[in-house]
Amino acid sequence: MCGIMGYIGNQEAWGIVVGGLRRLEYRGYDSAGVVTVSGKALRLARSVGHLRALEDANPEGLPGNIGIGHTSWATHGGVTEANCHPHLDSKSRIAIVHNGIIDNVEALRAELVAKGTQFRSETDTEVLAELIGRGVEAGLSLRDSVVAALKRIEGTAGIVAVDRLDPERLVAARIGSPVVVGLGEGACWVASDALALRPYTDRMIVLDDSEIAELTPNSIKTVDLEQRSREKRVEKILHQPEDADIGQFAHFMLKEIHEQPVALDRTLRGRLDASIGNARLGGFQTQEQRLFDIRRVVFFACGTSLYSAQVGAYLMSRYARMPATAEDAAELSVQNPIVDRQTLYVAISQSGETADTLVALREIRSRGGLIAGITNVVGSSLSRETDFGMYVHAGPEISVCSTKAFTAQALGTELLALRFARMRDLSANDGRLWVEALERLPQQVRLMLEHASACRELAERFCNARFTMFVGRGPNVAVAGEGALKLKEIAYLPAEGLSGAGMKHGPLALIEPGSPVWALVPPDETRERMIGNLRELKARGAFIMAVAQSDDSEVAQIADHMVPLPPHHPAVSPILNVIPLQLYAYYVALAKGYDIDKPRNLAKSVTVT
Ligand code: G6P
Repeated sequence: MCGIMGYIGNQEAWGIVVGGLRRLEYRGYDSAGVVTVSGKALRLARSVGHLRALEDANPEGLPGNIGIGHTSWATHGGVTEANCHPHLDSKSRIAIVHNGIIDNVEALRAELVAKGTQFRSETDTEVLAELIGRGVEAGLSLRDSVVAALKRIEGTAGIVAVDRLDPERLVAARIGSPVVVGLGEGACWVASDALALRPYTDRMIVLDDSEIAELTPNSIKTVDLEQRSREKRVEKILHQPEDADIGQFAHFMLKEIHEQPVALDRTLRGRLDASIGNARLGGFQTQEQRLFDIRRVVFFACGTSLYSAQVGAYLMSRYARMPATAEDAAELSVQNPIVDRQTLYVAISQSGETADTLVALREIRSRGGLIAGITNVVGSSLSRETDFGMYVHAGPEISVCSTKAFTAQALGTELLALRFARMRDLSANDGRLWVEALERLPQQVRLMLEHASACRELAERFCNARFTMFVGRGPNVAVAGEGALKLKEIAYLPAEGLSGAGMKHGPLALIEPGSPVWALVPPDETRERMIGNLRELKARGAFIMAVAQSDDSEVAQIADHMVPLPPHHPAVSPILNVIPLQLYAYYVALAKGYDIDKPRNLAKSVTVT
């Protein structure tokens, strides 16, 4: 949820570090800071607010060929300059940037205060900086001091450290929080996400947990916490430099909404076999025998990913006739989960770094559960810690509010459900119909995007509504929830997404004449009941915006506005239905003039529990 960028080489570090932070700013934008070393002095610039504020306050930048920077989402203490990274030790000799949380910080702080340290901030990072600073003052090398300090902490830490008296090296370490190192000629970069490295290099190494890397412009040495040398594989960075560019769009969210046909196409690529009506999933093949005995599937995730998990659970029960649930990962981990050999656990996370999801995953793994992962980020913690899995390949998602990852992940669960359905009782013929529907899906999403201007008009009309309701049934209960979440996240409007049945048991009381309601009414087994719900809403004066098949004259008659769905297989309806809801939320936020890609109080990836 915070971004880290570091550089060592023979160019000026400031522009490179700030450039990297800009590509990571979506991960946290409460404050930003950079430290460089010049003439054996630390040069520090920090500021509250967006990265832009830091640049405006330092138009000349800072001198030096070595630098580290951070863009953050506050977890400890208020958003003040004193709490911004980088943090220095009390002698102002070393500086560090840190992602993560130190759980035993209070004990360490008390110990250091007793030894005379006066802290300048309320952060756990300054405590870590002081531990490292005391080590180098006592004569340890920076690397040895980082190792010694990391052995004393409990919690998570992705860090980069620099010593002003030894400005020939950076030391980076990963305890839980991701750290990647970019390799170049006479230069190294270090970041919390490969996206920041891509403009500079396409070669990287990914630190594994409990690894420390010492970087000079021409060398990298990686060790573990026992200082044993570690061999690292050089990996290719798959992103294209332009993946994180906004292009012709006003916001990343709009760009990502419009990228969905291409993203879905990438999720499907090579994974459909029309001849046998089945999905081809590489990871599956490695576990085929165990999967045959699976009798229950438990999806778990947070936020938008949880809604894609709900879609998956529905499809799994409906088409594979497999008991399946979608659990909030944060709750699952504290519930003493029941883990057995006949259950497949499926962790879903766009970033692959959400702490609550990883904690649940580790708990299930420690009990011997079989875990599959669905994620967008190659090399993420989730991808490394699951038994097998699927990358959705939606491309980098920059807007905090998730859109293309939702549809790509829902599609990923769909492939999984198809695979299980074909292992169980779905016929080859029905499998082929489903595969054909999936093949048509990217193009059908493109058609749904053509309704952007109608969604915009509706958004402008209802942008000041006191409350907005989203209703659906079957797999579209999850889509209703996701539609409401979008509106809350970026337009700060009270909204609720629920089933048409649940609506009658309380929330209907919120409807007054003119209340906007989005209703998802695809032509499947839920349609009749949804029509009943529409009539109930209409009787209370709701303004109904329905998503329904283009020739559904009954819905057209009841609804005040209809967004038409193309004829489709019922299994893909969640992915089509969500498109107008994404567009609506975007245009409401636009009409209200909000910072759409960086909504208040939120972060792209929440790496604390
Ligand atoms: C944060 C983001 C959400 C996201 C959730 C889960 O809350 O603001 O947009 O859905 O984390 O993230 P993940 O990376 O695990 O999908």
